[in-house]
Amino acid sequence: MTVGIMPAIEYKRGMSREVHVISHPLVQHKLTLMRREHTSVSQFRQLLEEISMLLAYEITRDFPLSTERIQTPLAAMDAPVIEGKKLVIVSILRAGEGFLTGMLRVIPSARVGHIGLYRDPKTLEAVQYYFKVPGHLEDRDVILVDPMLATGNSAVAAVERIKATNPRSIKFMCLLAAPEGIATLHASHPDVPVWTAAVDEKLNEKGYIVPGLGDAGDRLFGTK
Ligand code: URA
Repeated sequence: MTVGIMPAIEYKRGMSREVHVISHPLVQHKLTLMRREHTSVSQFRQLLEEISMLLAYEITRDFPLSTERIQTPLAAMDAPVIEGKKLVIVSILRAGEGFLTGMLRVIPSARVGHIGLYRDPKTLEAVQYYFKVPGHLEDRDVILVDPMLATGNSAVAAVERIKATNPRSIKFMCLLAAPEGIATLHASHPDVPVWTAAVDEKLNEKGYIVPGLGDAGDRLFGTK
């Protein structure tokens, strides 16, 4: 897959403000289908599942490997396996749920956590109402998922909450990001790399990504 990395605004060790845009044609094509206003709920859901498999493939590309002694029908060999404990996918409710099925197809043994945050409609600030993640995150890598990185307020709050559990690493995965959301997330957490299918033009006055795809939760669950 081709991966575009936007240049780091400022580079410090472990503080690189990385943004990885997955420009693979399959991802871009599926994203266009999702953006279309008349794409049905079932198509939208199916496409999000497909894209999340492709994004999961990319976001795990640098996972360290170790070897394990195995026996094939013909010989013994030292075969590669992903090193360390099972990774943890943390879904930001509710639209993050749309990423889980696809990601768990590719990484079936991943552990799963949930963070419930809602956007205060007046302030657009994130308010937490639910938090449940696996124990002992110190030895685990976390992928935090939310399809839309819009204002960045939920992402900042979710990363803060996850950091309090002291995981080995945190990556943020979304479908669409607004430049404002990336800037807000990286102002507070420059060490958290972002993986996205596209960086759109801007946010509108209601905090929606433009051109975007509308409300990801409503389109995923048919709640409009
Ligand atoms: N959340 C969404 O679902 N869509 C946006 O455009 C912004 C936030």
